[in-house]
Amino acid sequence: MITSRPEAQAEDEGDPLARLRQRFVVDDDGPIYLDGNSLGRLPAATAARLQATVERWGRDLIGAWPGWIDLPTTVGDRIGALLGAQPGEVAVSDSTTVNLYKLAVAALDARANRSVVVYDPHDFATVRYVAQGLAAQRGLTLRAAPSDPIEGLETSDVAAVVDDEVALVLLSGVNFRSGARVDLAAAAGVAHTHGALTLWDLSHAAGAVPLDLTHDGADLAVGCTYKYLNGGPGAPAWLYVRSDLQAELRQPIWGWFGQRDQFAMGEGYDPEPDVRRFLTGTPSILGLAAVDVGLDALIEVGMPALWAKTSRLVAFLAERAEVRLRPLGVSLASPTEADRRGGHLSLGHPQAWPLCRRLAQEGTVVVDYRNPNVLRLAPVALYTRYVDVWDAIEAMAEALQRGGLEGDTEPRSRVT
Ligand SMILES: Cc1ncc(COP(=O)(O)O)c(C=O)c1O
Repeated sequence: MITSRPEAQAEDEGDPLARLRQRFVVDDDGPIYLDGNSLGRLPAATAARLQATVERWGRDLIGAWPGWIDLPTTVGDRIGALLGAQPGEVAVSDSTTVNLYKLAVAALDARANRSVVVYDPHDFATVRYVAQGLAAQRGLTLRAAPSDPIEGLETSDVAAVVDDEVALVLLSGVNFRSGARVDLAAAAGVAHTHGALTLWDLSHAAGAVPLDLTHDGADLAVGCTYKYLNGGPGAPAWLYVRSDLQAELRQPIWGWFGQRDQFAMGEGYDPEPDVRRFLTGTPSILGLAAVDVGLDALIEVGMPALWAKTSRLVAFLAERAEVRLRPLGVSLASPTEADRRGGHLSLGHPQAWPLCRRLAQEGTVVVDYRNPNVLRLAPVALYTRYVDVWDAIEAMAEALQRGGLEGDTEPRSRVT
C-alpha cells in the first residue's frame, strides 16, 4: 500500500513502463488525464505517420492503393495479438456500432430457428439499441440478464436466462459504467451448452485487460480503437470472428470489400471465405494509419505487463478514494472485489456532474461523468503515473471540501 506522495514518486521511479509516457503527447503542467477509456492520448508518432500518409496520397495518388488495401487485415492481426485471437480472425472496419449490427445479424441468421437475444440492461447504450432495433425488425424477444449495476454480471446471471430458445448472447466484457468484468469463458460455456452464439463488445476491455478469445471460446467480438488503443477520435473499429465460423456466417452489408476478387466486379455477391467477408466498403486509410501507430506501444510491452501496472493503479485509486473521498460522500461504483474490475474505477457522488465540471474548469483532473451520478477514472498504464493517482484524488478531495457544488445547476453539457 502506498501511503504518501513520496512513496508514489518512488513507485514511478521503479516502474519499468514509466518510459512509455514520453511516447505520448503529454503536457506535464496540464490537468491529470484520467479519461483514456473515452479517448486515448495522442501517440507522439501519429502526426508524422499521418503526414507521411497524406504525402503518399499526394505523390502516388491511386498508385498508393496496393500498399493500403490490406491494412484492414494487417492492422486487424496486430489488434488480434492483444486479444488472444489467431491471425486472420480480426479486421478493422466501420464503427463499433455498425460492426455490432453486422455480426449480430450474421449470428441471428445462423440461428434462424431461435427467437431470443440475451442482453445486459446495464450495458452501453449502443449495444442495447442495436439489440432493440434487431428485435423490432425481426420480431425477436430481448431477455435481460439480471445483472447488478455495480458488481456486474455473474456467470449465474447468464445461466439464469440462457436456454435453447436463445440465438445470441450479446454482452460487454467490461461494463462501460462500473468497469465490472465478465468471465468470458464461463459465459461462453453457458451459451454454447444451449447452442447459442456469443457476441462481445470489448470496447472497454481491449488494450486494458488481458484477453484470450481463443481460449475463452469467444465466437464474435467488436471494439473501439479510440480508447485504450489510442487510434484517435472516430478511428475505425475492429471486429473478431472465430476462424471456424467465418465461412458459415454472412453479414448483412454486401459490399465490394467483402467480395472475392473484388476488382473482377462479378455479377453476384460471392464473399471471401475469410474475415474479409465482414468488410463493407472503402476503409479510412488515415484512420487505419493512426490505429496502426496507436498499437505500437501496447504490442511492444504486451498485455501482461500493462495489466500488472493497470491493476495496481486501479487498486491504488480505490485505496486513496476510500481514505480521502469516502468521508466526503463519495461511494465506490465499481465492484468491491479487485479481481472483478477492469481498467477504470468508478465513483459515485450526488453532485458528480458539478464535481466533474469543477475539476475540468480548474484544470486539475479530467474524468468523465456518466448518468446518473458516476465519475469514471481510468489510470491508463501507458501514460499514467502513480503520482497522478495521488494528486488526482487530492484534487478531488480539495474540490469536494470547498463545497458549494449543490448550487451548481448548470445542465449537463452535450458531451460528458
Ligand atoms: C461499450 C461501447 N460500445 C460502443 C461504443 C461506441 O461505438 P461507436 O464507435 O460506434 O460510437 C462505446 C463508446 O464509448 C462503448 O463504450
